Amino acid sequence: MALYSEKVMDHFINPRNVGQIENADGVGEVGNARCGDIMKIFLKINKDGIIEDVKFNTFGCASAIASSSMATEMIKGQPVSKALELTNKAVVEALDGLPAIKIHCSVLAEEAVKAAVKDYYDKNSIEYDKELFKENSCEHCNIE
Ligand code: FES
Repeated sequence: MALYSEKVMDHFINPRNVGQIENADGVGEVGNARCGDIMKIFLKINKDGIIEDVKFNTFGCASAIASSSMATEMIKGQPVSKALELTNKAVVEALDGLPAIKIHCSVLAEEAVKAAVKDYYDKNSIEYDKELFKENSCEHCNIE
């Protein structure tokens, strides 16, 4: 069996929404201390709280790039609250799976989206439940 699904290969070779957004309403940058990969997500959010545009820059492995690409596709056009519900599991499922040792790469996408939403909330003094932004407890990502 191939290591990567066709969807992972497609999103790695033709990543969607690559780039930056000038004057983004929310920017989230996260890194994985183990592998050194970095992911940055930019959100353009309209007055109704809908994510009108989203872009990403990822310095990372194929799985991290495919995960960022898929995550941006999944939250584009959605309300901010919906983006917060995005889980790495949903990203992995949408990609038709990732090898077990690459699951942590999808966690980076979930964290980057959350960090960008948090930045948007903070910039606009929007109240939120701090529990939603608790440190990730993914066993793959914890540093020993
Ligand atoms: Fe670091 Fe994939 S190996 S994000």
